[in-house]
Amino acid sequence: MNKNKVYIETYGCQMNFADTELVMGILSNKGYQITKDIAEANVILLNTCSIRDNAEQRIYGRLGNLKVIKDDNPETVIGILGCMAERLRKELIEERKIVDLLVGPDEYRRLPEFINTAFAGEKGIGVKLSRTETYDDIIPFREDGLSAWISVMRGCDKFCTFCVVPFTRGRERSRSLNSVIDEIKRLSERGFKEVTLLGQNVNSYNDGGNDFADLLAASASVDSQIRIRFTTSHPQDLSDKLLYTIAEYPNICNYIHLPVQSGSNRILELMNRTYTIEHYLNLIDKARKIIPGVSFSTDIISGFPTETYEDHLQTLEVMQTVGYDGAYMFKYSPREGTKAYNMKDDVPDEVKTKRLNEIIDLQHKISYEINQKMIGTEEIILVEGPSKKSDAFLAGRTDTNKVTIFPKAENIHPGDYVKVKINRATSATLFGEYTGRVRSITTVESARSGRLKRTSTKSGRTLVSANTKS
Ligand code: SAH
Ligand code: SF4
Ligand code: F3S
Repeated sequence: MNKNKVYIETYGCQMNFADTELVMGILSNKGYQITKDIAEANVILLNTCSIRDNAEQRIYGRLGNLKVIKDDNPETVIGILGCMAERLRKELIEERKIVDLLVGPDEYRRLPEFINTAFAGEKGIGVKLSRTETYDDIIPFREDGLSAWISVMRGCDKFCTFCVVPFTRGRERSRSLNSVIDEIKRLSERGFKEVTLLGQNVNSYNDGGNDFADLLAASASVDSQIRIRFTTSHPQDLSDKLLYTIAEYPNICNYIHLPVQSGSNRILELMNRTYTIEHYLNLIDKARKIIPGVSFSTDIISGFPTETYEDHLQTLEVMQTVGYDGAYMFKYSPREGTKAYNMKDDVPDEVKTKRLNEIIDLQHKISYEINQKMIGTEEIILVEGPSKKSDAFLAGRTDTNKVTIFPKAENIHPGDYVKVKINRATSATLFGEYTGRVRSITTVESARSGRLKRTSTKSGRTLVSANTKS
């Protein structure tokens, strides 16, 4: 019997969190025990992120702490998984003597083998990228809960000039639709209520026969009481078919994370984002017509090489025009090996910070205004559990992913859908009163989308088109 105990810490994006569940699935199949207590582990793994320099600095800091454990107990195997393993390879092994194991995102199947190598006193290194690995057949190790992430595609072919992902995760490839659907069925049987389909460019999903709209439709059909979310969408691949599919299924959330990065066409071109602001704004308009009530969030980078104050003002303008519900906002961080790394990082750090702060302030203002307008409306909330601050309150999320807090009500449990009337809001949170239980989100949410006109297509499938006149 395998007596090894593995402790794993995860950094970076949701795909890394999903990968950690895969890794735990692979290791527990081989008899490893997963532990949450680092003190009892003899294998310590960090699943790392390289997206910006500060993400990597955090890992170096953490390796400094782990040295104490390694010094006390030299038998402990310390491993780096994920994007830093892929990006830094030898440097990490040579410079950080405590690292015994370096395994990139496409080599997790062989992790047990590499751990054995490390136990035998050699360095366990697996950093090859694959054109085909999707871990289709691996069952991730998941604790019971309400929400699950499922990686449906891996890698990225877009090569935005600032981004390391195409180098750390390799080429795009998709899992088969059937394997994703089987996984959602298993989650449904276990009582999960929310599934997020993940990919760096989730809407370029294609398994050879099905595109992302097909996958979404099939996912939503598994269990009408499971909410389906997805991230991240690239503006180039947000097809009309996809928008109609979101509109058609009440349990596909009306929420699209659609990173814009910059409001300036000149910067977008330098970033190789492959769209113009005009195209992007048209897309937003179209989505709003097809999916009434849809909300958007975005990613923005401040201080990309050559960014002028004018470019920055254009970013602020796009934020105003779209009215994002939320945004992830970053200072540009040059990454070795990317195209932008060869451009001069010529926006001084103080300027980047000043612009970033203006972007953050504006986003707060916009989120606050959007949330104020929700006062008086009734929202359907998936209850997640007690609120962070008080057991007398419950917390959950709206379809558009907004955290909502309300006083505890009789017989309401995590996993229930309830109606909450909003009576107060900040830029980040809605507060309200419980007004009733929701038996089926399918019937209620389609009633809410009452402006949609249902029309039959030739194939017999029902398509939903927006009644823009109403
Ligand atoms: N695949 C997704 C997001 C990938 S990374 C997409 O295409 O939108 C998440 C976000 O990190 C990016 O959207 C971008 O805003 C930011 N990011 C990526 N590389 C960066 C860099 N070098 N410096 C600063 N931010 C970066
Ligand atoms: Fe990076 Fe661009 Fe790919 Fe997103 S689309 S992962 S930003 S290269
Ligand atoms: Fe980071 Fe890799 Fe995700 S660089 S953002 S962990 S794909």
